[in-house]
Amino acid sequence: MCGIVGYVGKRNIRDAKDIILDGLKKLEYRGYDSSGIALNIGGRLEVRKHVGRITNLENLMAGETLNSNIGIGHTRWATHGAPSDLNSHPHCNSDGSIAVVHNGIIENYVEIKEWLSKEFGVVFKSETDTEVIAHLIGIYYDGDLQEAVYKAVDKMRGAYAIGVVAASEPDKIVAVRKDAPLIAGLGEGCNFIASDIPALLKHVRKIYLIENNETVVVTADDVKIYNEARKEIKREVFHVTWDAEAAEKEGYDHFMLKEIHEQPKGIYETLNRRIEEDGSIKLDGINMTKEDIEGFNKVFIVACGTAYHAGLVGKFVIENLAKIPVEIDVASEFRYRDPFVDDKTLFIAISQSGETLDTLAALREAKSKGARILSVVNVVGSSVARESDDVFYTWAGPEIAVASTKAYTTQLMCMYLIGLYMGRTKGVIADERYNQYMSELKEIPEKLTKLLEGESSIRDLAKELYKREQVFFIGRGPDAGVSYEGSLKLKEISYINSFAIAAGELKHGTIALIEKDTLVIAIATQDKLYEKMLSNIQEVKARGAYVIGVAKEGNKEIEKQADKVIYIPDCIDEVSPLLSVVPLQIMAYYIAKERGCDIDKPKNLAKSVTVE
Ligand code: AGP
Repeated sequence: MCGIVGYVGKRNIRDAKDIILDGLKKLEYRGYDSSGIALNIGGRLEVRKHVGRITNLENLMAGETLNSNIGIGHTRWATHGAPSDLNSHPHCNSDGSIAVVHNGIIENYVEIKEWLSKEFGVVFKSETDTEVIAHLIGIYYDGDLQEAVYKAVDKMRGAYAIGVVAASEPDKIVAVRKDAPLIAGLGEGCNFIASDIPALLKHVRKIYLIENNETVVVTADDVKIYNEARKEIKREVFHVTWDAEAAEKEGYDHFMLKEIHEQPKGIYETLNRRIEEDGSIKLDGINMTKEDIEGFNKVFIVACGTAYHAGLVGKFVIENLAKIPVEIDVASEFRYRDPFVDDKTLFIAISQSGETLDTLAALREAKSKGARILSVVNVVGSSVARESDDVFYTWAGPEIAVASTKAYTTQLMCMYLIGLYMGRTKGVIADERYNQYMSELKEIPEKLTKLLEGESSIRDLAKELYKREQVFFIGRGPDAGVSYEGSLKLKEISYINSFAIAAGELKHGTIALIEKDTLVIAIATQDKLYEKMLSNIQEVKARGAYVIGVAKEGNKEIEKQADKVIYIPDCIDEVSPLLSVVPLQIMAYYIAKERGCDIDKPKNLAKSVTVE
C-alpha cells in the first residue's frame, strides 16, 4: 500500500522533480514511512530518499537543482524492513544504472536474493523485498529495459505495481501491474504512471486503467500497453470526473473533517442517481434479472474494517427487506475457511478503494465456487470493480483521509438500495413499506446537514473526554454495527484502547472491565430495543460508568440514565445508522485533535491495504 508515481516530459522541460513530489504528496495517504525519487540527469540516475514524511525528502533536496524530464517516485508503507533511509525506495542495482519503485510484496524474494548472491555475488543494501527486482533487471539488462523487465517478472511471485527507469534510456519508464493498482496518465507532451488518480488530477483527465499482468512503456509522446502475451494492445481512454479540488482540503484542517462534511452530498448522489421518475430504483452497473434475484438462496457480505462494519448493518437491512439469509464475514477469514458458497450465492464485496487484497482474494474465492459477484466500491475502475459481475458505485468522491467516513455512509445507502431493489423485485415488500423507506432515505441528506450543525457541542464534549485511555461502545441490532464503527474510528485516529460489543453481550463477561468513571458510549436509536438499551445503561451505571448516550430526538427517557446525550434527528429505526454514526465520527475527530494526533495519517495505517 505504497504509492508510486512516474513522469516523462519533453527533454527541454526539466520539471520532473516538482511534478513527482507533488504527485507523491497526493498519494501520501497510501503510506508515509519514507519517500524517494530517482531522476535521470545527463544519463545518470540521481536517487534521493529519506525516512519519514515527504517534507523530509524535500528538505534533503533543498538547494539542489536536479533538473530532469524523467523520473519515478515512491511513498512507502513498510512491509519488509523497518522504515529507514536504506529501506526507502527507489532501490537500485549494484552500479545504480537501474532504479525501481514498487507497491506490493514479492513473496519469493528470499529465494531470488539467495540465487542472486550465489550466482552473481550481488550484495544487498536493504532488508526489502523490492531490492531484488532492481538487481534482477540489472543482470538481465542488455540495452532493452522492457525485455529485462519481462525476464525479471518471469522470476517473481506476489503482488506488484512497479515503475522502472534505466540510466541509458533517459526517455522511457517501464511499469508492470499484478494485483496492485496502476494507471497511466495521458498528458500533452508528457505522460505519467501512478498508483491512484489523485496523484495525476492536477495534470491529466485522460487515463488508461492498467489490467493485471500488463506492461506499460511510457515516453513523453506515447503510452504503449502490452498484454500478458507481451503483445501490444489498444485500451479505451478513461475520463476522470473528479476535479483537482476534490483532492484538496478546501479550508478544512484535515481531510477527515472535510469528508465528514461531504456526507450529505455523497449520500444524496448515491441515492438520487438511482431513483427513477416513478420512484422505482434503477441500480446502474447491476444486470441481475428477476430470475437471478429469485434464484439466490443466500447472500454473503465480505469486506474489511469500516467496509465490513457497513456490511454488519447491510445484513440487517437486506435480510429484513429481501427476505433472504445473509451471512457476513471479514475477508481475511472468509478467504481460507472454505465457506459454503455456490451458484445460488450472491457474494457482495464492499470496498472503498477497491484494492484491498484480502477482499479481492475473497472475491476470487467466491467466484471460483460459482457465486455471482456484486461489489459496492468507491474508486471507479479499481480491481474489485473490474473483477465483479455487477458493480454498484458509492458516489462519495475521492476519500483521502485514512479513517473512512463518507465511504461508510454511502456504503450504507447502497445496502438499503440493494435490499429495497431485491425485495421489490421478489415482491416481498409492501408498497406502503417501500414508500416509507424511500421517503425516509430521501430525508437523510437534510437531516445529516442539520446534525452537522451541532458539531461544536460534540467538539466541546470531546474536550472533556480526550484524556480517557479506555472506552466501550455498546448498541443493539443495527446500533451494534454502528458501535463497532464508532469504536474503530476512535481507535485508529486517537490510539485510545476502544472496545465495541453488542449491549446484551456485556453481562456475559466484558462488564467485569467496567468500573468507576469508565467511559461507555451507548447507541440507543432502535425504538423496539430502547427499553433493553436503557437497562444495559443502568447495568454499567451501577458499576460507576460515565455514559454518553446517542438517541433519537424525542426519546428523552435516556436522560435519566446517561450522563450526557447526543440526539440525532428522528427517523425510522432501520435508517438511523446513516445518522447515528456521524456524532461518533466527529467525536473521534475532536478527541484525536485534542490529543495532537496526525488525524489524516494515523500511525501504522494506510488507506488501502494491498497486501494479505
Ligand atoms: C477505515 O477507516 C480504515 N481505513 C480501514 O479499516 C478500511 O476500512 C479497510 O482497510 C477497508 O478498506 P477498503 O474499504 O478500501 O476495502
